[in-house]
Amino acid sequence: MRIILMGPPGVGKGTEAVLLAEHYHIPHISTGNIFRELYKDNTDVGKIAMGYIDRGELVPNHITNEIVRHRLMEDDAKDGFLFDGYPRNIEQAKAFDHLLKEMGWKLNAVINIAAPDEVIIERIAGRRVCETCGAVYHIHNKKPKREGICDLDGGKLVQRADDMEETVQRRLRIYCDQTAPVIGYYKSKGSIVEIDGTKSIQYTDSTIKKVLGEMN
Ligand code: AP5
Repeated sequence: MRIILMGPPGVGKGTEAVLLAEHYHIPHISTGNIFRELYKDNTDVGKIAMGYIDRGELVPNHITNEIVRHRLMEDDAKDGFLFDGYPRNIEQAKAFDHLLKEMGWKLNAVINIAAPDEVIIERIAGRRVCETCGAVYHIHNKKPKREGICDLDGGKLVQRADDMEETVQRRLRIYCDQTAPVIGYYKSKGSIVEIDGTKSIQYTDSTIKKVLGEMN
């Protein structure tokens, strides 16, 4: 299964991606997670990327596309993948098309999860992430067993630096200007599936799996 998961910041892409990747036994490839890992590992590219992330801006295409190319060449991606947060503008979508053609691969589906801004803002405000493994929680909707502590590795749960209100507003503006047109790009190819992102995590998960089951 080769899937792209799209949607505005905070709509729940990462949360759904973890469930889908596990179900279909495919790697969950989040460009945001890759940049955060590269930063943790103290790499130059990680430091450059984090400058953009902290301002709520997109990391330049030449860096992002190169990282995706490398990741796609890894062995675990040869039988399928789920991209979360890529492509994020038309130039990236075209570069990805080119890369897929080079590999002789076709996408099974592009899934767009949509929700109004007020839902997104509430989700981002309540999001907490494990500072060690990056697992995602919510103070109301996905609580850890022990408050402030990751269920998976006991790491401390913190807010992401780019989840500050002013940065979130900039991320939403950039999403409208640059990422929303990518939905139109895939629509014109007939490969987009629209999902209502206002429902619960489990409901969204089962809806996506049902749609994918009907398509493939
Ligand atoms: P990235 O890490 O990809 O962030 P994002 O796209 O802004 O998405 P988020 O991680 O904020 O949200 P999400 O949709 O995954 O929601 P989540 O599942 O956490 O990118 C960060 C930055 O990296 C970008 O701003 C950019 O700078 C850079 N970058 C990344 N990719 C790039 C690219 N391709 N090109 C250039 N730059 C790039 O859920 C949110 C919260 O809601 C959680 O607390 C969760 O528990 C809760 N929740 C989820 N689903 C539900 C539900 N159904 N009901 C109730 N609560 C829910």
